[in-house]
Amino acid sequence: MTNCWRLDTPCQTMVLASFGGLPECVYWAGPLPSGEDLVALADSTRMAPTGGMLDVISPVSISPENSGGFMGAPGLARRVNTYSAGWFEFSEAEDSDNRLHIWARNTPSLLDYELIAEVDATSGMIVLRARVHNLHQSEQAVDWIAAPVLPGPQGSDEIIAFSGRWCGEFQVERHGWKAGGYLRESREGRTSHTDFPGVLMPLRGCTETGGEAYGLHLGWSGGHRLLAEELPCGRRQVQMGALVWPCHEIPAEGYYETPPLYATYSAEGLNGVSHSYHQYLRNNLLNYTHPERPRPVHYNCWEAVYFDHDLDVLLDLADRAAALGVERFVLDDGWFKGRDDDTSSLGDWELDLHKWPGGLSPLVDHVNNLGMTFGIWFEPEMINEDSDLFRAHPEWAMDVAGPEGRQQRVMDITLPGVADYLFEKIDAVLGAYPIEYIKWDHNRALPAHAPVQVTALYALLERIRAAHPMVEIESCASGGARIDFGILAHTQRVWLSDSNDAHARAKIQRGASYFFPPEITGSHVGPKVCHTSGRILPLAFRSSIAGARAMGMEMDLRELDESDMAVLGSAVARFKARREVLHTGRLHRLESADPAVLAEMHVQDGHFVVFAAQMDASRQQLARPLRLAGLEPDALYAVRLENWAEVPGVMNRVGQNPLVAGEEVVLSGAALMGRGLQLPNAFPDTCWTVNGAKI
Ligand code: GLA
Repeated sequence: MTNCWRLDTPCQTMVLASFGGLPECVYWAGPLPSGEDLVALADSTRMAPTGGMLDVISPVSISPENSGGFMGAPGLARRVNTYSAGWFEFSEAEDSDNRLHIWARNTPSLLDYELIAEVDATSGMIVLRARVHNLHQSEQAVDWIAAPVLPGPQGSDEIIAFSGRWCGEFQVERHGWKAGGYLRESREGRTSHTDFPGVLMPLRGCTETGGEAYGLHLGWSGGHRLLAEELPCGRRQVQMGALVWPCHEIPAEGYYETPPLYATYSAEGLNGVSHSYHQYLRNNLLNYTHPERPRPVHYNCWEAVYFDHDLDVLLDLADRAAALGVERFVLDDGWFKGRDDDTSSLGDWELDLHKWPGGLSPLVDHVNNLGMTFGIWFEPEMINEDSDLFRAHPEWAMDVAGPEGRQQRVMDITLPGVADYLFEKIDAVLGAYPIEYIKWDHNRALPAHAPVQVTALYALLERIRAAHPMVEIESCASGGARIDFGILAHTQRVWLSDSNDAHARAKIQRGASYFFPPEITGSHVGPKVCHTSGRILPLAFRSSIAGARAMGMEMDLRELDESDMAVLGSAVARFKARREVLHTGRLHRLESADPAVLAEMHVQDGHFVVFAAQMDASRQQLARPLRLAGLEPDALYAVRLENWAEVPGVMNRVGQNPLVAGEEVVLSGAALMGRGLQLPNAFPDTCWTVNGAKI
């Protein structure tokens, strides 16, 4: 008996079929016609065994089972004899418009598997979760439970995954599909700089702007595993799930639910996949505190003063920031009791009265009087051994026998009293001053990957949100080590990287853009000499790269002379003018004909803005045309080089092209996407910005 179900969005259809056991995804690609005979489709995917195989070809089900004869990596692993463990048999299903539940039971093992699939028509996303119910009267240990397992596409030569490091997050890596497995794991109990829980699978010939591609992302902020496996028979499976140490202990008659797996397919290139992720996040997860107003331009004082808080200096920095058009002033690490460097005080969330004898009010009031709002830094889950909190509660720190990270330990926030303590401390600070933003940091790896720590964090964030609904929270973890759809259901902005090096940042921003939209991605104009790379880059370039995301600045503003202030002030003004397009429009990564140019554009309601960053010297003498994307072919657009005033510094002759002289050029979408935009030549580490408006 074959049972079938379909999940439809405007851009994809997924068909699940049960041949008596756990369902298998038998179709995942573009939309199928409504009359498709699903049973015929499912039956047509069956294959016959050949020599050297078992007599049945067991399905690559949503949780492949070795006990059913499947020879690849199982979706659910337990230390039991697979021959006596039995397998799951389909029991029932409930299918409503945008939600599907399927249950299957493994009678010998007394486990139920429940698939929960949801469809979001607006973004085109399919969200899948698995629940494993324990029917025993006692706790049951399970070593691994993947979120529902999907087939790796045939016709795809590559797996695009993301590696990274501190100051170098979201590095795009392309790996060929090969016999055997491609495994990525974060074993540090957080999303990590090094292994992002997401993967893209383009079909042959797919580019940023065209062709077919698949995306998977696990919305989880703890340890995780990604396995893309090609079986000897040629079939492929992709498993993603939360890593747990030592194992999941499913309570008697309770269940474990996997984190959500966000699955999308697009026939509009890798950009199409990204649009689904951006749209889903915007509509379904992000709970932005002030939807009525744009995301503010930040000034963060960290790289200006570090731990050295002096009221007069900070007042001066606030004046300078306001003069540049900044809208939010953020006091970073160093404000609490005894925090003179990074060796002490985490956990003691009370104001340092030596640095702040009059409290924070003199600074907060000054900032507010300048028309800016105020934000502050916390690192709640951490504790220094040199702190009053540790002296009172050494048992709150995890793993005191193991090595420290940044001279600090992680607190077990699942222990009674810890979350209450943190809530009270944060609540007291938020209650004492008009604060509308927290930078919530997490600067070290965990000694173990315990999912309960992650769920306890989500609960603490929700408790703070409930008490202070207008306070925005940014997720930071030494830059971008905790960025995922799990944390973004509870926070509103991410600190993408501690690297303010615009050259490195441009690449990090591009990598992150596969999953995350510009408005949540904090990006700051750093100091002249970058503190994390030592590189000196032009202020105009630094400003353009930051101005492509959620712009801010993080430097000692006293280093800017009058002409620098003018450059940065005008970059802020231009950012504000394009902010709506950036923060609500569609981001298209462009396929630049010149590998030395990294380019993207943002389109919203007939307006667009292009960023073309010259990352290196080009091989050829003159700039190659840049083909745009996402425009209406028949519409006419008035196009202008926004920063044409920088042209004389870069080109010795302006030539005939009116665009280069700062004039408006009117071209059709077809011309802009077909032939492309002829930009001026550029020095390395400069970035052209172009505005377009439909006429
Ligand atoms: C981390 C963050 C930085 C800064 C410091 C403060 O490294 O990523 O931006 O807030 O902590 O200690």
